[in-house]
Amino acid sequence: MTEPTEAGSTALSTVHTTDHGTLTCGDALDCLRSLPADSVRLIVTAPWFQGPYVIDSTDPTSPRFGDWLVTFMEECERVLLPDGSVVLELGCTWAADRPVRTIQHYAALSRLVGEHGWHLLQELYYYNPQLMGAWDTWGGPGASRLNDCVSNFYWLSRTPDVPVDTARALEFQNTLVNQSGNLLALGDTYADHLHMRQRASEGKPPEPERNPVSVPLYFIKLLTQPGDHVVDPFGGTGSMAIAAELTRRHWTCNDLSRDAVDIAKDRLALLDRHAAH
Ligand SMILES: C[S@@+](CC[C@H](N)C(=O)[O-])C[C@H]1O[C@@H](n2cnc3c(N)ncnc32)[C@H](O)[C@@H]1O
Repeated sequence: MTEPTEAGSTALSTVHTTDHGTLTCGDALDCLRSLPADSVRLIVTAPWFQGPYVIDSTDPTSPRFGDWLVTFMEECERVLLPDGSVVLELGCTWAADRPVRTIQHYAALSRLVGEHGWHLLQELYYYNPQLMGAWDTWGGPGASRLNDCVSNFYWLSRTPDVPVDTARALEFQNTLVNQSGNLLALGDTYADHLHMRQRASEGKPPEPERNPVSVPLYFIKLLTQPGDHVVDPFGGTGSMAIAAELTRRHWTCNDLSRDAVDIAKDRLALLDRHAAH
């Protein structure tokens, strides 16, 4: 995957369109800036929190990440419907030089809620066994810390009153967890047959940093209706776009990496071929 660049520094190019959505390549902020105001029901995304946005390993609060996230969320506010939602996957990282956690997500969330009028509606924890080995700089058997195997999702809105039918969560969760609870057991990267098939055909292992389609699908079903517009400006290899296609939501998916966007395009084509059979 491409290393992130400074925000807002690239031209946005459209790589693929379907009846429901548009896949673009460019900077996340440029993607949001290309969308009309008051048009989006849900932004579900995993902002890259390394590279220029962080990482000052001498300061685990990484204030530069907070600066960037505040700007990003201002643009989210512009495109969102007044009772729309932003779901951010944040956290899960170690300082580069010591076995301590960075807390840039707590510091940044505190600024968003304390100074910028966002409401934290809920935290959700996605049990992702595949994370083990992906980010375990300091974790693992015999190491000084435990493996990471949970991703944190933060559900934010401009208003505390977001219409949600939590009964919709029941159709997803397996019975090992509280089915309407905020611990999500939705499978891992290895459980995503479209991704596995694509990567296997290229003789490659799965990408640990991408979510299975079930993760964006969960948030789309919980927080949107058919016809609503869903956006992932850090869309990676397109799991959100596939989830939106499956549920007939209008979507915009973007990534800075041309490699990632090309994989997303191939996965959407695979989905089309499956639908045709
Ligand atoms: C954690 S991954 C997202 C994975 C995605 N949720 C999925 O399931 O495939 C973060 C993505 O951000 C992309 N990225 C990094 N900097 C970016 C930027 N400035 N604008 C847009 N995308 C960026 C990377 O290429 C990477 O694909």
